[in-house]
Amino acid sequence: MSDLSKMNLQSFDWAQSIATPAYVLDVAALKRNLARAAEVKREAGCKILLATKAFALPAAFPIIREVLDGTTASGEYEARLGYEEFGKEVHVYSPAYAPGEVERLTKLAQHIYFNSPEQIEKNLAAIRKHPGLKVGIRVNPGFSNATLGGALYDPCAPFSRFGATRDMLDRVPWDEVEILHTHALCESGDEGSVGLIEHVGRTLGDYVRRVKVVNFGGGHFINRPGYDIGKLIAAIKAFKTEFNVDVVLEPGAGLVVDTGYLVGSVLDFHHNDKNIAILDASASTHMPDVLEVPYTPKVVGAAEPGQKAHDYILGGKTCMTGDIIGEYSFDKPLNVGDRIIFTDMMQYSFVKNNTFNGVPLPDLAVLDENGEYRVVRSFGYDEFRHRLG
Ligand SMILES: Cc1ncc(COP(=O)(O)O)c(C=O)c1O
Repeated sequence: MSDLSKMNLQSFDWAQSIATPAYVLDVAALKRNLARAAEVKREAGCKILLATKAFALPAAFPIIREVLDGTTASGEYEARLGYEEFGKEVHVYSPAYAPGEVERLTKLAQHIYFNSPEQIEKNLAAIRKHPGLKVGIRVNPGFSNATLGGALYDPCAPFSRFGATRDMLDRVPWDEVEILHTHALCESGDEGSVGLIEHVGRTLGDYVRRVKVVNFGGGHFINRPGYDIGKLIAAIKAFKTEFNVDVVLEPGAGLVVDTGYLVGSVLDFHHNDKNIAILDASASTHMPDVLEVPYTPKVVGAAEPGQKAHDYILGGKTCMTGDIIGEYSFDKPLNVGDRIIFTDMMQYSFVKNNTFNGVPLPDLAVLDENGEYRVVRSFGYDEFRHRLG
């Protein structure tokens, strides 16, 4: 946290006057991240899709569309979002499809991935009605380098429900299949990406030779400091040369890491052996990964407890005792109305939020490159009410 404690608070002047809570996309930061994605695409000669499960902000799509090849969805609604709001290619994978979903998806997506040979067989009639449709099979490569949350975020953990295991691969109707898909990483460094690509080449080569495209999934944390994209580029180039296939990556988090904030305000204080500041931003409703992973997000101008003069536990106002974002220290005592700026809040945040306890949903906002702050969407009672029938 020490790096952020030295951050110049002047540059966050915009946050002092905005309505809170608000998720704020920093367009300049997004463009920096996209520039690295563009370099990977250009140098490796691969495609990159946005995994909308991680970040689905249509207001940002015109910027992302300039660089990426399309979106990848987790089911019908995300596929429709990609089709209607992003354009370009739409890919979709779900471990199971609801009745009629595949048929409906054929109108939205040009690339549909299945979880097992049996699932492909079951949907052959729908597939064959659409000759242009590209069929993918998700394969569990039995390799993982997930750096986050242990088995919770490891797609290849024991008994994982994701992807055909090795023993199923000879039953795959390979003549119907154009894409071999593996998603095995989570917040992985270059060693994870390269390890996966080499592992697939080494252990699944016979199957790779039967397809035209290999999709190495998400989890490539290409914008994390220290990730050497040169190594990823070299591994993709070597793989393409060896197998004569096209390569696709579909990161989510790695495209939007460190590109925005969740800004909350101090509503009130409580004291129970420690100082507690209660915010209008909540871990339970607005930052579920803080509790799920779990992790403690960074706060602009704050340090770890004990490092600065004034310690506070920051918590939300829900009834859940564990709705605690973390414990921090500040140079000055906090006051009601002070803005608390949580960093790195674009990935798996607003796409997962909820209205538990009737807590209002944060605004969705954009900080443009010229410093202008724009609210894209505000939410009120109606959003809470309509979800309840
Ligand atoms: C199939 C698939 N593709 C892509 C992603 C995106 O992963 P990340 O946001 O970690 O890059 C996920 C994440 O769960 C996934 O399940």
